[in-house]
Amino acid sequence: MLQHTKGFIFDLDGVITDTAEFHYLAWKQLADEEGILFTREDNEHLRGISRRESLNRLLKGRPIDEYIAQSWMERKNNYYKEYLKQITPNFALPGVSQFLEEASKIGLKIGLGSASKNAREVIERLQLHKAFDAIGDGFSVVNGKPAPDLFIWVAGRLNLSPHEIVVFEDAEAGIDAALKGGFWTVGLGTANVHKAHVIAANIASVSVQTVIDAIEQINASTH
Ligand code: BG6
Ligand code: MG
Repeated sequence: MLQHTKGFIFDLDGVITDTAEFHYLAWKQLADEEGILFTREDNEHLRGISRRESLNRLLKGRPIDEYIAQSWMERKNNYYKEYLKQITPNFALPGVSQFLEEASKIGLKIGLGSASKNAREVIERLQLHKAFDAIGDGFSVVNGKPAPDLFIWVAGRLNLSPHEIVVFEDAEAGIDAALKGGFWTVGLGTANVHKAHVIAANIASVSVQTVIDAIEQINASTH
């Protein structure tokens, strides 16, 4: 049977590495300085969404002038960038670099689809940038996840159609974005990814071939 899967697109935070704790610490510092209550539980709801939308959720409806919003986001990002300096190749989640190697060895094209404006810096600090044929980040499109625009942009860069690509995501906003765009999806982790075609605990618990086989099987059964 001719293999129909031609590419993989990976989300960054929570899939390739885990920067959620750094985002939490940076938002927490800003929130504490401004007297806003912000918990780890609140932070869970910021996974996969843009910096601006994250600030909106942190504010929980409290009004803010736009120039103050901009300066708060800049402050948070400065705190966050300080944490990023700690990132070394060891920060890649287990199994990730082997998985990327395995995928490229069988000729799959590989893309990154991250909402983060810091994605390039993170992927370079992890020394994984050379594994990617296309990198989509927080600068690539106007409408972030759950809009499908970012994944579609990356698919275009890979010169593939969404139905030839499997998207790996750990956030509900990311799975929604991929499904809306017509991509195949692998949801990682247990929380909020139940709509994905295939669900796994993490990258380390799957192989490239098991993912492809599972997707091809679903594809065959729906045609
Ligand atoms: C995503 C994170 O990757 O990037 C979100 O999951 C974050 O939590 C978003 O808000 C934007 O990141 P940045 O680096 O542009 O502030
Ligand atoms: Mg994520």
